[in-house]
Amino acid sequence: MSVILDPWGHFAIEEYEKLFSQFGIEPIDNVLDKLPRLHRFFKRRIVFGHRDFDKWLKALKDGGKVAILTGFMPSGHVHLGHYAVLEELKYYQDLGVDVTIVIADAEAYAVRRLSRKEIMEYAREYITYAFAIGLDPRRTRIYFQTNYRPTYYRLIQLFSRKVTLAEMEAIYGKLEPSKIIAALTQAADILHLQLKEFGGYEWILVPVGADQDPHLRLSRDIADRFKNELGLRRPASTYHKFIRGLDGNKMSSSKPDYAIFLSDPLDKVKSKVMRALTGGRATAEEQRRHGGEPEKCTVYDLYVYYLSPDDDDLRRVYSECIGGQILCGYCKRRAFERLEKILVDLRERYRKVGDSGIVEEVVDFPDF
Ligand code: TRP
Ligand code: SF4
Repeated sequence: MSVILDPWGHFAIEEYEKLFSQFGIEPIDNVLDKLPRLHRFFKRRIVFGHRDFDKWLKALKDGGKVAILTGFMPSGHVHLGHYAVLEELKYYQDLGVDVTIVIADAEAYAVRRLSRKEIMEYAREYITYAFAIGLDPRRTRIYFQTNYRPTYYRLIQLFSRKVTLAEMEAIYGKLEPSKIIAALTQAADILHLQLKEFGGYEWILVPVGADQDPHLRLSRDIADRFKNELGLRRPASTYHKFIRGLDGNKMSSSKPDYAIFLSDPLDKVKSKVMRALTGGRATAEEQRRHGGEPEKCTVYDLYVYYLSPDDDDLRRVYSECIGGQILCGYCKRRAFERLEKILVDLRERYRKVGDSGIVEEVVDFPDF
């Protein structure tokens, strides 16, 4: 049976493997040896799948015109899930790849129904964190969907001629005007860098969460149909798993008790971590005897994503857990201490970026 991925839904993707058979996403494994540098996100299969990433990597190796583009919807405060994407972008920028970030403010307004004022505040927070994490403000192109050049909007209008509603609904489920426009706008985001005016890049890679794959399928179809007219080719993409929230579901700003926001007060971070769902047993005695279950544990997720960048260290955490040598209370306190270090350092840089005025200098904010 066909299943529809809803990029606007609040779901957790339970079985990432199914995406391979159902949607033709390729497992990341077959390209790992082609990466110039193996980031832990790849090694640990946080980036688990792709489309045409092998072709993009080959172009990178051969000195082709490659670029990266991804987008953020400014619909809430920045949390640890977003941090991973920003870190991924930094990895590519450090390899010398040109990075573009689109701020999906039109989508946040039309689909998430936020006010323009809220959207602008969240957007500023995202961009400031992007620079705090280490993206180079002078080498990162950032634009808003509502505040860009005419040629970008022209693409949306041209694209509308060569897609049908039935075809779009087969990809997205039931649509309404706001979502149709959001989807075509996202296709323009993904494809516009190939136009001369925007750099004439030939190989675009779009790193996203797996829920965004419908947009990639649409963009790839559109690229095929505009091959002759505009010289477009299919974009490549990679897919990452979302870090789980502390309740075990997708981390989301709509459930603030179970998300760790980068700007949360530290005592709040601590109490959230201490209350997190773990893979611990009912009693200390049982845990010593049977060990914990890291696969079920949201605190273990924190170690995998951020707190154990060193593989030997991660292996140690894992074996201490399954061997029953440590209990969850200790493991959570240690997780918090490590997280605290990361956050304190990040906030110091966030403050400096904010004070420097660089965000206003390099990003063109819409007037309203
Ligand atoms: N829809 C994306 C989200 O919900 C944001 C987005 C807009 C995007 N345009 C994009 C992501 C282009 C990747 C590429 O977060
Ligand atoms: Fe999770 Fe640590 Fe408890 Fe193991 S010991 S279940 S990793 S909190």
